[in-house]
Amino acid sequence: MKRFENKVAIVTGAGGGIGSAIARRLSAEGALVVVTDVNEEAAREVVKAIKTDGGEATVIAADISKKDSCFALVEKAFALNERIDVLVNNAGINRRGNLLSLSDEDWDISFTVNLDSMFHLCRAALPHMIAGGGGAVVNTASQWGLYPAPNHIAYNTTKAAVAAFTQNLARDYAPDKIRVNAVCPGEIHTPMLEAGVKRAGRTIADLDKLVPFGRIGKPDEVAALVAFLASDEAAFMCGSLVEITGAQAVA
Ligand SMILES: NC(=O)c1ccc[n+]([C@@H]2O[C@H](COP(=O)([O-])OP(=O)(O)OC[C@H]3O[C@@H](n4cnc5c(N)ncnc54)[C@H](O)[C@@H]3O)[C@@H](O)[C@H]2O)c1
Repeated sequence: MKRFENKVAIVTGAGGGIGSAIARRLSAEGALVVVTDVNEEAAREVVKAIKTDGGEATVIAADISKKDSCFALVEKAFALNERIDVLVNNAGINRRGNLLSLSDEDWDISFTVNLDSMFHLCRAALPHMIAGGGGAVVNTASQWGLYPAPNHIAYNTTKAAVAAFTQNLARDYAPDKIRVNAVCPGEIHTPMLEAGVKRAGRTIADLDKLVPFGRIGKPDEVAALVAFLASDEAAFMCGSLVEITGAQAVA
């Protein structure tokens, strides 16, 4: 399937577990992918892998916790081919803790990276999408934004806000043919998850046992969903929050 031929897609956090899978998937389906991450080295590795597979991708390193970097990223991406068709707001951080154990900085940076970046990137990208006749935004929320897991108040609250942001944006810009949707993953095997599992003194096998499907998710499985939502096949999907969890309930 080549659902993204002649399209330009920006993927944030594309040096990480889920983001790199999304970048590879969109490129395999024909997109010119802007692989962006604050970790430039990781982003370069992803572009190398995409090119080895015959795809087209370019690195634009950016720290999306800064408004100016968000706007500069979008302008550099637009300059590649004078269009932006897909924006995947995937970058995120997870600061663990409850109300009293979190620092002010934990709270602030969680909102800056997980939510404010989407606000700035969408404000930079939407005018180009609208001028180009439409586009698709896919935001990475989380199942925990819908059903909070304990001891992650900052993370869960940012992801709930991402869900609300997604629905608001979809509502306001559907008339301009901008489709905005969010994926809400459960536990997916990535560096972020491994760090959390290690901190909690558990193993991936422990987590597998908690999922009715028998295992936690794979980044490629989230990438397949993101690609669908970003594609014309999802033409009537707008404002949806799609869970991908292996039927796991949040304990
Ligand atoms: N892994 C899971 O179980 C899971 C579940 C639900 C939601 N999510 C969400 O999926 C997304 C991807 O997570 P992941 O598990 O692949 O994590 P990851 O840590 O592997 O990847 C996250 C990427 O975001 C980048 N990033 C962080 N801060 C940044 C900044 N300021 N500017 C630019 N890039 C920045 C990191 O460098 C990293 O490459 C996140 O939004 C996360 O909250 C993950």
